Amino acid sequence: MMRTVCWCNHFRADAAIVCLLGAILFVASSRAAEPPDAATQNQRLGRGVNILGYDPIWQNRHEARLQEKHFRLIREAGFSNVRVNLHPFRDGKLGPDHRLSREWFDIVDWAVKNARANGLMAILDCHEYLAMGDDPRGNRERLLAVWRQIAERYKDEPDDVLFEILNEPCEKLTPELWNPLLRDALKIIRATNPRRTVLVGPTSWNSIDALPRLDLPEDRDLIVTVHYYSPFAFTHQGAPWTSQKDTTGVAWNATDQQRRAIEKDFALAASWARQHRRPIFLGEFGALEKGDMDSRARWTSFVARQAEKLGWSWAYWQLDINFAVYDAPRNAWVEPIRRALVPSPASRKQ
Ligand code: BGC
Repeated sequence: MMRTVCWCNHFRADAAIVCLLGAILFVASSRAAEPPDAATQNQRLGRGVNILGYDPIWQNRHEARLQEKHFRLIREAGFSNVRVNLHPFRDGKLGPDHRLSREWFDIVDWAVKNARANGLMAILDCHEYLAMGDDPRGNRERLLAVWRQIAERYKDEPDDVLFEILNEPCEKLTPELWNPLLRDALKIIRATNPRRTVLVGPTSWNSIDALPRLDLPEDRDLIVTVHYYSPFAFTHQGAPWTSQKDTTGVAWNATDQQRRAIEKDFALAASWARQHRRPIFLGEFGALEKGDMDSRARWTSFVARQAEKLGWSWAYWQLDINFAVYDAPRNAWVEPIRRALVPSPASRKQ
């Protein structure tokens, strides 16, 4: 009898130890699985480049300009993120039920897979800003339906896949409409992706000036994104889609006054970010080929370093086509721009 009691006591003690260890392991593993916060995610994003928005791949996969090898080249050049510009209204073959086509998702899957395989974080950016700016009410349900499907499709991806609700809300998509719309889109995303890092920016084409009118929910897994193209007469000289289509010969010489103007704009964003405790991602900046190369490289380098000084991550606009950092027909980097972005391997992030 004595022996039985002893054995029982031993058994209870052992069982208690096993339970305790189990509980410790459970707590430790759930801590380890805790997703990184938005500030950490923003640091991880580092330096990046916009890709795929205007690639023939969306019309015909055989005509794709971006190939698998380019993801490796992007990584080797020192970038750590790609902002994948998606046009689901233009390319997704949306019918009245707003279903995105399988072919469209195949291309997005391919981009996510190749980005991840090359150690690049991927931002899935909904780039339907023109349609949304033109008719925000008429396109609202389409945007929400698109996010319901993208969120569902990528909900099991790790935290190096991020979502950006909408590129450059503009025109008729005013703060009064954008603030409630971004909340609705975020609610849909959160139903399947409770801790996914989501990027969201202010109206007026994601301009720094519009930050005070951006009204965000309490959600702490948000990175705020802004775009920068000032002075516009320099970055967009000769751009046929803008008011600067007839402008030529504008230089950027990094004069005190020119540098101070950029520092002042960035200081506004930095102070907003501090006040609202939000990390900043500079999702687009670049100067069109019509400007002289020395000015473009000077401006690009100054803007990138300025952003980094403030702890922002960034993505250059854009890989190929125009503003290009990569010359696709020649299969070569546009060296002055690439060097302006990533000055030397030693200064590369990660
Ligand atoms: C637009 C591009 C444009 C760029 C600079 C982007 O958001 O999608 O079409 O070239 O901004 O203006």
